[in-house]
Amino acid sequence: MSLKRFTAQGFRCLDSIEFEPDAEYTLIHGANASGKTSLLEALAYLGRGKSFRGAPPANLIQHGQQEFVLFGQVERGGRPINVGVRNSRAGLEVKVDGDKSGGVAALAGALPLQVIDPDVHNLVSGGPDERRRFLDWLAFHVEPDYLGLWRRFRRALKQRNAALKSAGRPESVVAWDKEFCDLGARVDAVRSQVVEAALETLQAQGSALLRANIDFRYTSGWSRDRTLREALQDHFERDCVLGTTQVGPHRADLRLIYDERQARRFVSRGQQKLLASAMILAATERVQTVLQQPLLLLLDDPAAELDRESLRRLMTQVAGLGSQVIATSVERDESLFPAAPRVFHVEQGDLRVSADT
Ligand SMILES: Nc1ncnc2c1ncn2[C@@H]1O[C@H](COP(=O)(O)OP(=O)(O)OP(=O)(O)O)[C@@H](O)[C@H]1O
Ligand SMILES: [Mg+2]
Repeated sequence: MSLKRFTAQGFRCLDSIEFEPDAEYTLIHGANASGKTSLLEALAYLGRGKSFRGAPPANLIQHGQQEFVLFGQVERGGRPINVGVRNSRAGLEVKVDGDKSGGVAALAGALPLQVIDPDVHNLVSGGPDERRRFLDWLAFHVEPDYLGLWRRFRRALKQRNAALKSAGRPESVVAWDKEFCDLGARVDAVRSQVVEAALETLQAQGSALLRANIDFRYTSGWSRDRTLREALQDHFERDCVLGTTQVGPHRADLRLIYDERQARRFVSRGQQKLLASAMILAATERVQTVLQQPLLLLLDDPAAELDRESLRRLMTQVAGLGSQVIATSVERDESLFPAAPRVFHVEQGDLRVSADT
């Protein structure tokens, strides 16, 4: 997979830009507030239908405009795919090769990508939600049935929680248990297989970046020695009191072990960034192996929080993946890459190919 051409209109400070990234390395440099992160955010939006900064769509539409429009020409296995997104106050419109029916999942299928930005450490230091999203991204790309399964499980969970909240009759709660348990056990099985298959890669990326023993432990979201049904029964009264389901795949986590300790409590901010980056690079590597395609990897200010040696290690691992890499930096630092990148300069939301490339 390779993004050949990208255009954005009315996205944050990007008035109207057109951009042809290199198949391997692209560097976007510019002063603070010139629009570097906005450009990566727009690129990521095209493959995700949402902002990696967690911004609501209304904040992404350029001040004074009614909508933003993004378009990308992707080449996948020698075949061109046209991907478009329009977001106005009326909502999100997605088009993949003219088809509007696929929604955000169609974007993710057409332009699979990962992002390493200065907030990436949250994947390690934050709560389990982001790590579950990480697992689900991996599962979505390597297991074709996963998305449907996950959606059905979410629906069963919502219905069960609604029944718990409406209180009163335990029968209306228990009515959802079979579906919840069947689907929950299948979601868990896929996640567990996905972690198992990625474990060696995760460990290898972790120790390459941190020069330490890194391990990962997947936890299902309920006690290992109980089936999901038994765990649900054990928690029934508490669920009724709290009005939500306390156990299940919606409580899963991927725990990180750094030299035999819980990483999120004992590592520095720079180490958290390296650990989180290791997870992202390992997931990218796994998905590339399964899809037999390079992915798009967006690096926003990779030097942030890292000393020279850590940055060198990170960029060595990045280069080893063979992904299409687009990185930003404040200074024009081409030494980030092992080969000459295509260089762009961004100034007040306007993008230019740098003069001497
Ligand atoms: N909806 C919007 N409409 C117009 N401008 C916006 C909008 N949202 C953000 N901006 C502006 O876009 C500019 C560029 O922000 P961006 O985060 O892309 O900069 P950057 O080049 O990544 O800077 P830094 O080096 O500090 O990370 C900022 O001045 C910001 O105020
Ligand atoms: Mg920025």
